[in-house]
Amino acid sequence: MNFSPDSSPFFNTKPNKDSFSLDLLSNLPDDVIKLLKESGFLSIKDLVIEGPYEISSRVGISIDDSIFIYNQSITFLEGLGIMEKRFTPAATLYHKRKKIGRVSTGSKNFDKLLGGGIETNAITEVYGEFGTGKTQLCHTACVTVQLEHSEGGLKGGALYIDTENTFRPERIDAISRARNLNPTKILDNIVVAKAYSSSHQELILSESSRIIESQDIKLMIFDSAISLYRSEFLGLSTLSIRQQRLNKLVHTIMRMAQTHQIAVLLTNQVQSSPDSGFAGNTFKAAGGNIFAHSSTYRIFLRKADRNRIARIVDSPNHPESETLFSISESGISDPIKK
Ligand code: GTP
Ligand code: MG
Repeated sequence: MNFSPDSSPFFNTKPNKDSFSLDLLSNLPDDVIKLLKESGFLSIKDLVIEGPYEISSRVGISIDDSIFIYNQSITFLEGLGIMEKRFTPAATLYHKRKKIGRVSTGSKNFDKLLGGGIETNAITEVYGEFGTGKTQLCHTACVTVQLEHSEGGLKGGALYIDTENTFRPERIDAISRARNLNPTKILDNIVVAKAYSSSHQELILSESSRIIESQDIKLMIFDSAISLYRSEFLGLSTLSIRQQRLNKLVHTIMRMAQTHQIAVLLTNQVQSSPDSGFAGNTFKAAGGNIFAHSSTYRIFLRKADRNRIARIVDSPNHPESETLFSISESGISDPIKK
């Protein structure tokens, strides 16, 4: 059964990118395309994001048929240059990576640490104790993503999935004003989804592709990604089911980042750990190995008097290093000098 909250202003807008319509999969019979649409797959990107096992279970067709549909879909996106071609010269990848989109954090120091900002087609995970600036970073990035490319933005909107009830439009208003931007316009380009349970979070995620396409979203935020799972799945007996659900969640998020070519910023909680590596860090990120292996970039935040320290702890292309930033009226900004 497909749930569609028609009362939402955003659901009245159909995806406007006809270039990903299922009708373009010319090797599929019309009745299969009809079945896929009836099962809630509205675009070729949806098929690639959900994958063959989800297609099979939702449509009620064999796994072989689903794999065929999936292969047709991914080949189509490869043809458009959205997904990488199956065999690509490394030199081509290198050239493409030089032009990859990035969203400014609001602080030059922090951007430099990340090689220019929060990268598209990837997951950037930020974790740290309470009050270290995770939510402030999310708010700031919602504003900066809307800037011109030359100013650290991607000229796109933000989708903010709020699981902790800490999204504050008045903070967006203040950050915009402090940066001489029109707060009304900035707020108009942020879509907020409040998630009340892990299942609700998964439902929101399954409907996010439509919003990303129709609202030209370039940054998707989860603040936080894991807290609802931690509060619902208590004790060792539920650990394996929690990890399975988180695994599916984070891999779906990664496929969304890549097929929609957007930046994903997710925050994570910490748990105490007496043996977690470098000096001064007695915390490690929650979520266990699943998060550790799935995030492209992991950033640890901690307090340093009036400033904050961001440390890049896992990255395929950065050494472990750290930098200072601060939280001010304009959101995340460069450090306050003593
Ligand atoms: P948890 O969600 O509780 O784990 O914390 P967090 O890491 O998300 O913390 P958050 O981003 O909410 O940061 C809170 C810090 O930002 C506090 O130290 C606040 O004082 C500071 N802060 C929030 N709003 C403002 C503001 O308008 N101006 C300034 N200067 N600081 C602010
Ligand atoms: Mg927070």
